[in-house]
This record gives sequence, structure tokens and C-alpha cells, in this order.
Amino acid sequence: MVGTVDGSELTAGAAPGGEVTLVVVDPALRAQVLALAPHPPQRRWSGVPGDTLGPAERDPAQRPVAILLDGRPAGFLVLHGGVSAGRFVRPHGELLIRAFFVDATFQGRGVARRALALLPGFVRALDPTVTRLVLTVNVENEHAQRTYTRAGFVDTGARYQRPGGGPQLVLELPI
Ligand SMILES: CC(C)(COP(=O)(O)OP(=O)(O)OC[C@H]1O[C@@H](n2cnc3c(N)ncnc32)[C@H](O)[C@@H]1OP(=O)(O)O)[C@@H](O)C(=O)NCCC(=O)NCCS
Repeated sequence: MVGTVDGSELTAGAAPGGEVTLVVVDPALRAQVLALAPHPPQRRWSGVPGDTLGPAERDPAQRPVAILLDGRPAGFLVLHGGVSAGRFVRPHGELLIRAFFVDATFQGRGVARRALALLPGFVRALDPTVTRLVLTVNVENEHAQRTYTRAGFVDTGARYQRPGGGPQLVLELPI
């Protein structure tokens, strides 16, 4: 088992293209996670762990999650709950997904698709009271929108103007 915290790790099983696993980032994984990044032009969509991991580690309302491919970090996301997660999630029983990306080296291999398929079970194992996942995605980020829609996320119809960014769709997934 690789770098688990809270005993939470979930696997997609052996599959063509490698085994995808989700795990809460722990100190043993930290350096490898900090080395991950999407393609440079994509950084505006998700940021990079150099900016997003530290704040998530310091905030008890956030959980940094590594996407592992065959046991090695290949992607990253943050689960954020409570009042500080913003107006699109209720303070209890709902989580915002933030900072989601797959490292440039590993894109196009179904890593995001398999990670998102694992996410509901992973979240329930962390907190069985969670019944809804929410995220925002830039209207121009069609690739990510497609990835989320294929994973079952649906458009809530709400729109959000991200400070310093463009308009965002608000998507949700009941779990
Ligand atoms: C969006 C992202 C997470 C997808 O990760 P990924 O592991 O490459 O995605 P997958 O390989 O699982 O593919 C998911 C879907 O996108 C499609 N896709 C993958 N690479 C693609 C590409 N370069 N161009 C167009 N579509 C592509 C796949 O075909 C798949 O769709 P399908 O199931 O209909 O075939 C990744 O591109 C990324 O990190 N982007 C930058 C950060 C970002 O935008 N994050 C979202 C913030 S809201």
C-alpha cells in the first residue's frame, strides 16, 4: 500500500495502461507530488501543487489527494469542504473538487477518467456523510468539461466569474 492516510486508498484494479489509485497525500509522497504539473498553458486551469498543496495541507477543511498510476503520483486534486469551500457547496455533506489535473507526461491515457470513477467511493470511505461533489470549470476548458461529463458530472446551470479568470460552469455529481 502506498502512502495512505486515514486508511483510505482505492484502486481501479489492473487495467490496460496501468493501475490507478487515489490516496491522501502524506509526507512520503510530498516531493513526487510537488514535481507534477500539467502542460504549461494548462496551468491557468488547475494551478500546480507548488501553489496548491501547501495551503491544502495547512487547512483542516481541505484534503490533498494524489492520483497514483502503478503506485507513482501522476495527478492531483484537492477535496475542500465547509464554509470556506464557497457558495456552491453546503457546509456539510458536500465537497468542492479543486486543483484537479493529470501530469503532462500521463495525459491521454485514461488516468483522469479512472480517477474520477474512483472518486465517489474514495470520498465515501473518507466521509460517509458526503452525498454531492461539486466543481467549477472554465467555459473554454472543453477538454476538462468532456472529462467530467463522461464521469457523470452534470451542469448545475450556475455560473461563476473566477477572479482573474474567465467564466466558469458549476458541475455536480451526486454520490
Ligand atoms: C482534463 C485532464 C484532467 C484530463 O486528464 P487525462 O488523464 O488526459 O484524461 P483521460 O485520458 O482520462 O481522457 C478523458 C477524456 O478526454 C479525452 N482526451 C484526452 N486527451 C485529450 C486531448 N489531448 N484532446 C482532446 N481530448 C482528449 C479523452 O478522449 C477522454 O474522452 P473519452 O472518454 O470520450 O475518450 C487533463 O487534460 C489536465 O490535467 N488538464 C489540465 C488541467 C485542467 O484543465 N484541470 C481541470 C480544471 S477544472
